[in-house]
Amino acid sequence: MDFPCIPLWDAPEKGRSLKASLDPVQTLHEEPAEAEVVSHRLMLRAGLVRKLAGGVYSYLPMAVRVLRKVETIIRQEMNAAGAQEVLLPALQPSDLWEKTGRWQAYGPELFRLSDRHERAFALGPTHEEVITDLVSQLIRSYRQLPFLAYQIQTKFRDERRPRFGMLRGREFIMKDAYSFSASEEDARRIYARMQETYARIFLRLGLEHRMVEADSGLIGGNLSHEFMVMADSGEDTVMTCEKCSWASNVEKAPDAKVCPVCGFMLASRTAIEVGHVFYLGHKYSDPMGSTFLDSAGKEIPFFMGCYGIGVSRILAAAIEQSHDEKGIIWPVSMAPYRATVLSLGPGMGERREVLGLLETMETLWPGEIYFDDREIRPGMKFQDADLRGIPFQIILGERHVEKGDGEVKIRLTGERLVLPLKEIPALLSARVQGILSES
Ligand SMILES: Nc1ncnc2c1ncn2[C@@H]1O[C@H](COP(=O)(O)OP(=O)(O)O)[C@@H](O)[C@H]1O
Ligand SMILES: [Mg+2]
Ligand SMILES: [Zn+2]
Repeated sequence: MDFPCIPLWDAPEKGRSLKASLDPVQTLHEEPAEAEVVSHRLMLRAGLVRKLAGGVYSYLPMAVRVLRKVETIIRQEMNAAGAQEVLLPALQPSDLWEKTGRWQAYGPELFRLSDRHERAFALGPTHEEVITDLVSQLIRSYRQLPFLAYQIQTKFRDERRPRFGMLRGREFIMKDAYSFSASEEDARRIYARMQETYARIFLRLGLEHRMVEADSGLIGGNLSHEFMVMADSGEDTVMTCEKCSWASNVEKAPDAKVCPVCGFMLASRTAIEVGHVFYLGHKYSDPMGSTFLDSAGKEIPFFMGCYGIGVSRILAAAIEQSHDEKGIIWPVSMAPYRATVLSLGPGMGERREVLGLLETMETLWPGEIYFDDREIRPGMKFQDADLRGIPFQIILGERHVEKGDGEVKIRLTGERLVLPLKEIPALLSARVQGILSES
């Protein structure tokens, strides 16, 4: 069976379906004391992450599956926008940072260390210096421009108050991209293309989001937009028009009551910053002496832009936006598994009908089935399934299976349907196509 819509799940290394009885990662039933926000609490309870130190977490297998899906969507969209993937060092010599003045300006947030020869290094919180230095070695002429590069990599920031789990870590995963252009006009064209790319990424991830004008902070430049995922617990406040897509950071428009585009009333909503794009101009290329020969043969600095997405933060933001009192409700595009099969009662997991269904589900969504075959109370299985937030639950109890039926529960809506086992894969496939074609 194939899927005519967006190929979210044809990533090369998708991982395999799993039986819960073989899964060493079990859920936590007690409330974790350390968790201050719902996403952190649910990520710990659902067995997604474990804390190593303040703001430093291990990602467990289900979280890695989610990360890979998010990264796949980001890679597909960045590649489609003409970006090339690179992988830059996290370990960065201080002299690069001295050139831009950020060895001082970045302050205590910069993790600093020295090697055995007492040479100073930073653990990269961002990569403007490294990429600008690299590109000035690679590119000599305007004919080689524009150049757009991105990476998905671990970043280090010694945050003053690391908290909220994945929302603000000291070690976290970011997609960062950098553009190099021969003119301001071209740099702004790429900036606009990145804005569109980001909108597509968050749409495909199934997250309600808004783009807002923003301050450009330490990274600098004079044009900047943030991408905000709407969530009640967000640290940022955004003024949103409920009629059109206009939105602004509250600091940018503190007294605004109506939308400047359509005149409709504005609402004040909290949100989480998941992406940030900056037009940089010469901010880094100038101090670093990073130049190329323009069409008149004159040596001038690159016109730059930079574009970040908080990949690990997206996991937490998705949970902040989409959960209920029972647990996580993953958007289909980033769920760790597509479906979970719950066999109820002794021996049910080995019944011919159940094995047959698992086989067809596996053909439909290879590697995407979490099979809760544990011999535990049904109530606990239901609780765990709701907590883990896999979009579709297929519940197989004696009463239904006897008649060749099974029950499907949609995690998002709570809707329950009893139907012949044979018809379940087609129903789920149709549901998923419906959901993904909306995005
Ligand atoms: N400490 C952090 N933990 C997790 N994600 C982060 C952290 N800091 C930044 N990010 C993510 O990386 C993206 C790009 O970072 P940037 O805009 O440079 O950070 P900031 O907004 O903190 O100055 C942010 O939009 C955010 O999604
Ligand atoms: Mg930012
Ligand atoms: Zn409006």
